[in-house]
Amino acid sequence: MSRNNPLYEGKAKILYEGPEPGTIIQYFKDDTTAGNGEKHEVISGKGVLNNRISEYLLTALEEIGINTHFIKTLNMREQLVKAVEIIPIEVVVRNITAGSLAKRFGVDEGIVLPQPIIEYYLKSDKLNDPMVTREHITTFEWAIEEELEEIGRIALRVNDFLTGLFKSVKIRLVDFKLEFGRVYDEEGNIYILVADEISPDSCRLWDVETGQKLDKDLFRRNEGDIAKAYHEVARRLGIIDGDNNVIDEEKGNVQPITPVVKTNPSPITKNKNPKKDK
Ligand code: TMP
Repeated sequence: MSRNNPLYEGKAKILYEGPEPGTIIQYFKDDTTAGNGEKHEVISGKGVLNNRISEYLLTALEEIGINTHFIKTLNMREQLVKAVEIIPIEVVVRNITAGSLAKRFGVDEGIVLPQPIIEYYLKSDKLNDPMVTREHITTFEWAIEEELEEIGRIALRVNDFLTGLFKSVKIRLVDFKLEFGRVYDEEGNIYILVADEISPDSCRLWDVETGQKLDKDLFRRNEGDIAKAYHEVARRLGIIDGDNNVIDEEKGNVQPITPVVKTNPSPITKNKNPKKDK
């Protein structure tokens, strides 16, 4: 579907105003970037796969009581989501050394960590998403302490759940990135939701038996075909049928996911957000 007037266009997604107040349409592009946009390609079908994988994972989180911005999938490339105030922090959870952690500290990739590590990065293309501490986050009022507590609690719960879910399809969840948003009720209570997407663009996924990468590192490192890898992730999760055809938007060979009944989230704090009155 073609739409006019995006609210925001990012590297892999476009956001449009939703049909109801408080909703947004999130469109998944085929554009694939790495190195803060230095490497860029359009990979046919990637947006469709990420739309479905993210739908599947966010729905699974909702089913265990983790609140997300996801409302429903509209079509092959679009999701209806709740409009949230995005917290400008990327939260990375790591189970196994890889990527920037291995590079920064000069350690080998593939070492299982004794406990998950949570890292925070400021969402700023201009500054190249620098790593920040919790003190930076509260000092510069990107989030308050209570929100960080909630974010940490949710991130570890998501990690435990997704680790098990991927393990059941013989995939190791090496690390992943989450984004969070806040919504308010009439009394000014704040609710934290998992926002953005969870897909092989934002996770490191290794085959349990072969160690084969099934994520965006294939693109970042010129090591293989990400459409094929993402298709394999979707196939293993049971999201798409198993005939190994690359998803065809015309054929629409993707099964819809049954919507879940959502529970009411509880607020974490009341009238404490420093940004609320701005
Ligand atoms: P890193 O090792 O490059 O810091 O990445 C850690 C995880 O976060 C990895 O699963 C990929 C994901 N990630 C994103 O989703 N977006 C980003 O901009 C970056 C840098 C990482």
